[in-house]
Amino acid sequence: MIILKAENLSKIYGNAEAEVKALDHINLTINTGEFVSIIGPSGSGKSTLLHMLGGVDKPTSGKIWIDNTDISALNETEMSIFRRKKVGLIYQSYNLIPTLDVKKNILLPMLLDGIKIYEKEKEFEEIVKLLGLEKRLEHLPNQLSGGQQQRVAIGRALIYRPSIILADEPTGNLDRENTKITLELLKQANREYNQTIVMITHDNEVALSANRMIKIVDGKILSDEVVTHENN
Ligand SMILES: Nc1ncnc2c1ncn2[C@@H]1O[C@H](COP(=O)(O)OP(=O)(O)OP(=O)(O)O)[C@@H](O)[C@H]1O
Ligand SMILES: [Mg+2]
Repeated sequence: MIILKAENLSKIYGNAEAEVKALDHINLTINTGEFVSIIGPSGSGKSTLLHMLGGVDKPTSGKIWIDNTDISALNETEMSIFRRKKVGLIYQSYNLIPTLDVKKNILLPMLLDGIKIYEKEKEFEEIVKLLGLEKRLEHLPNQLSGGQQQRVAIGRALIYRPSIILADEPTGNLDRENTKITLELLKQANREYNQTIVMITHDNEVALSANRMIKIVDGKILSDEVVTHENN
């Protein structure tokens, strides 16, 4: 089943004098349960694509469907409610709420929807343990290292079990051990909960964790290939 579809997606930043064509007629279809990695040089349009797919920014032209909903037809309020349920976003720059502690930042999507913390206590504890944040729950984001902030952002995207996780360099600031843990969490989300994952990475080895790898250059898709895993 198709969960994400982009048709003729283009994004132009700036004005006529200083125009940047960040995305150039992208066509893309992603099925439920796929784990897709997106790689490409800096400035090639990866983050832009992810922001469009997640509905946080609007394309200049083209259309996006998430779970058969044409997201351009939604107004801002409808979009944020829709996104919270369907899409977990992990940003390159974390996007944590500076005034909320780690626990509240992780639980934020649920708190916004009026879901009680105890309903998700088990998932919360499991995720916090896996991310190694047990001793940081009452800290504010600015009291954490970059890697720890990244892990909070990952926890927030996982807690609600949204059908799609869009992750922008989720392992970009992590050491080897934490990279491994994070990839394992994403794989687990994919395998056990059938969550569809789209992950941007600079790291070829990290990209190979996915089942499909898309290369983007100059706002265009250069290649789109199945990743074969020898041992499973
Ligand atoms: N808000 C913006 N205003 C103007 N130009 C932008 C904006 N955001 C991105 N761009 C430009 O669009 C192009 C694509 O940027 P994007 O952030 O999508 O690249 P990226 O592939 O994610 O790069 P990186 O790997 O460095 O994160 C770049 O040339 C960038 O300078
Ligand atoms: Mg980027």
